[in-house]
Formats: sequence, structure tokens, C-alpha cells
Amino acid sequence: MLKTNLFGIDFKNPVFLAAGIMGETGSALKRMGKNGAGAVCTKSIGLEQKMGHNNPTMVEVEGGFLNAMGLPNPGIDEYVGEIEEIRDDLKKMGVKIIGSIYGKDSNEFSKVAETISPFVDVIELNISCPHAGGFYGAQIGQNPDLSHSVVSAVKDCVNKQPVMAKLTPNVADIKEIAKSVEDAGADGIVAINTLGPGMVIDIETKKPILGNKFGGMSGKAIKPIAIKNVYDIYSAVELPIIGVGGITTGLDAIEFMLAGASAVQVGTGVYYRGYDIFDKICEEMEQFLIEKNIKLKDIVGGAHE
Ligand code: DHB
Repeated sequence: MLKTNLFGIDFKNPVFLAAGIMGETGSALKRMGKNGAGAVCTKSIGLEQKMGHNNPTMVEVEGGFLNAMGLPNPGIDEYVGEIEEIRDDLKKMGVKIIGSIYGKDSNEFSKVAETISPFVDVIELNISCPHAGGFYGAQIGQNPDLSHSVVSAVKDCVNKQPVMAKLTPNVADIKEIAKSVEDAGADGIVAINTLGPGMVIDIETKKPILGNKFGGMSGKAIKPIAIKNVYDIYSAVELPIIGVGGITTGLDAIEFMLAGASAVQVGTGVYYRGYDIFDKICEEMEQFLIEKNIKLKDIVGGAHE
């Protein structure tokens, strides 16, 4: 009932693991696959090893979390070994793999994309980390020309795997960025990355809690903002949209689909409802579809009618 075809690929359901959660190792990804995710997304991986920011890298706030991990990862050459270990198992389970990558420019993105592409089903370009500094992350995704150049460079060197761009909500006009990545040849859009950045100050020590001082916000409180971004993107481009931001229930997923998402990703929700949140969301979606006697594909974009 939840089978979904995106970019010519069959997914057993449209509820995917988001980048950055349980994606540091192959075994963590496999665990999310066993718990019902239709696809699992890796932690964002770059060309070289990166240690990340000092602790604390996460702090809970009302309605969600702030995080500034600082893109910790072992570098692409090392990381593909993690995927290699679980690739066959995930294939047997019918779980697709999304490789999230970052880089400082088109050249770096292309190199990482080339290395990861034989190991994954879909590539996700993280052009939206809100606290990466330098010319990483949102510095690219906030600029339509830089976003265009990264997407078109990766599309030039990856032929087989679809390429999605993950966008930041921290822009004046999300439609402009969406159009520019569509024009560059992206196959899909993932929206949204974390919101902000934000800060929490410890009033006893008088210091910001996060090691990086500020971080991006995820979790339930950002859902209305994610919904509006998906709604706007759907009205501006033809590309399939993968909605992400504060989804914890099947009804949240349905709401994203009405806004225009064809699939969703779940990140912070894993903390709220446990590893089996994927199975739970799928069950809740199925129940909704049965009660209303409708098909999933008929609700995508339904809020625009
Ligand atoms: C990190 C945070 C993000 O929101 C993101 O998109 C990528 C990386 C991080 O801190 O590692």
C-alpha cells in the first residue's frame, strides 16, 4: 500500500531515515533498515576525515534539539567500507541507501560523489548545514548560483544514481533555490535542513551550552516551517520532494504529502519514539489511507487543489 516509485526506483515505503541520525556506521544504518525504513541516509560525508566540534554537540530544547556536530566523519575513502559491509543485507531487506555528501566547492562535491556513487542508490547533496563555516553547507545553499554549480558539477560526473539537493529553510526565497537546482539537473529536492541557527545559554556559567555556541534546530517545533517550505517548493518546481522536519507520526507524514512531498525523512523523531518509529509511521499511514479509502499518490500536493 505504501510502495513508492521515485526517479524510477522502487521504495518499499516512503518513510526514510534522515541524514545525521544513526548514520555514522554501517551497522547503525542496518538497524534502521530492520526497523522498517524504506531507505536509509548516511551521515554527511566529505573528502577528508573531520573531527567535528567540541562537546556538547546537542542540547534538547522545547519542541526539539539544537545541534552543531561539525560534520564529524572519517572521510569518504574510509566510509565506503561501512556501506560495503551492509549493502547486501540492506538489498535483501529491500532497503535503499542514500549517500549524503558535503564539500567546500563543486570540485570537492564531485570527487566525493564519484567515490560514493557505486555504493549507494541515491546521492543527497548537503548544501544546507547551518553552522559548517567557511564555504561549506548553507553558504552554498543560500546562493542560487553556487547551488546551481554544485548540482550541475555532480550531475556531470554521476550518471546512474539520482541526485537530490537538500535545501536550507534559512533563505529569503526557497522557490528561487529550488528552481536553480532543478535547472541544474537535480532529480529531487530534500527539504528542510535544520532551522536557525539558535543558541541556548546556561545562566549559571553564563556561557552558550553548545561547544560551537550555536546550532541548527530540529524536531517537532520546526514542522510548520518545513511544511510551508515543501508547499512553496511544490508550487515552483516539478521535481519530487522528500519532506523532512519534525515528523514523528504517520499523520505528520500525510501532512507533508498534502503539502507536496512524495516521501519523507525522519531524524529527531527517532529520539522521541524509538528505533521502530519507521514501522510505527508506516502503520499509521496505512491506517489513515484505509479509513479514508484513498491511495497515497492521490494525496501528494492535495493541499494545493
Ligand atoms: C551537521 C549538521 C547539519 O544540519 C547538517 O546538515 C550537516 C552536518 C553537523 O553538525 O555535523
